[in-house]
Amino acid sequence: MAVGQPKIKARVRCLGRPVGEISHVIADPLTLEVSHIVVSVNGTERQVPASEIAALENDAVDLQCDSGQMTGFPAFKREDFLTSKEVEVPHLEQRIQAEPGDVLVPFPELEKSIPRRNFFAGFIYMLAGLIGLPMVWPVLRFIMKPMYAPFDNRWWQIGNIGHIKAEDVGTQFKFNKLIRDSVLQINLDTNAWVIKASPATLGKIYTHGDRTFTDEKGNVLWVNDARIPYVAYSGKCPHLGCGYKWRSHRTLGQVFLCPCHLSVYDVTGAVLDGPAPRPLDVLPIKVSPAGDVEVIDIQYKAGKKEQIRIA
Ligand code: FES
Repeated sequence: MAVGQPKIKARVRCLGRPVGEISHVIADPLTLEVSHIVVSVNGTERQVPASEIAALENDAVDLQCDSGQMTGFPAFKREDFLTSKEVEVPHLEQRIQAEPGDVLVPFPELEKSIPRRNFFAGFIYMLAGLIGLPMVWPVLRFIMKPMYAPFDNRWWQIGNIGHIKAEDVGTQFKFNKLIRDSVLQINLDTNAWVIKASPATLGKIYTHGDRTFTDEKGNVLWVNDARIPYVAYSGKCPHLGCGYKWRSHRTLGQVFLCPCHLSVYDVTGAVLDGPAPRPLDVLPIKVSPAGDVEVIDIQYKAGKKEQIRIA
């Protein structure tokens, strides 16, 4: 600060008697004038109005009060002030020629009430949450259910093999899954692809023989007999779960093609092209003597090389 302004560390005298030193300078952010000095008197800081200053020297300040009056000035509460570094008060530091951060300004009144406002805002949010929770709970529970529910091992009747016209041709079976709990009931339109595999195709699908499916406890749910030519694939692309189609490919012939990121699978489910990390997911399938097809619509985690069952 320039001479002519109270300076931090300057000695403070009352009617010529030393009483302490200046520990802070407080500015009025509106007038940009020094409004108070904070005088450290025997370890206690007192907030003294600038109007008490009788004279200023380079490193000393004379107050017009006597030393006994010092205790009458309010104690300085640092938490009620911000440094000029913490708040942008235009022209303040040029005006009183202080080093950045030297000057304190009162904490804005509005900000002071923030803890109180926060308390009430928090209280209102909590109240709204308590009132709203019963309404959103069924939805939340439905959304979170897959994380905690046992796997869905129900058999779904999806159609009849009479729809399949030829060997090694993908045929889509659309079906509807009714998912119901104590509160919600949802109809899910889904699908699976079924092929009647030629012996060569069947051999490639069941390279290790019969395919065993288990529940969440590892108990065997079903075994696909590797001699049964009907094979069902989950309708979800193992890359990211899109629906794929049976399409004619320019160079690869008839393939399963996923439109989302152009993964291509042959009739055995093997990946021919694209980002798919694993072959199509084979589902448990059974075919009744009347040709009705049932599957367990097992869901595996998308994007993984290995099959990780999630539902
Ligand atoms: S979801 Fe099928 S290729 Fe990405």
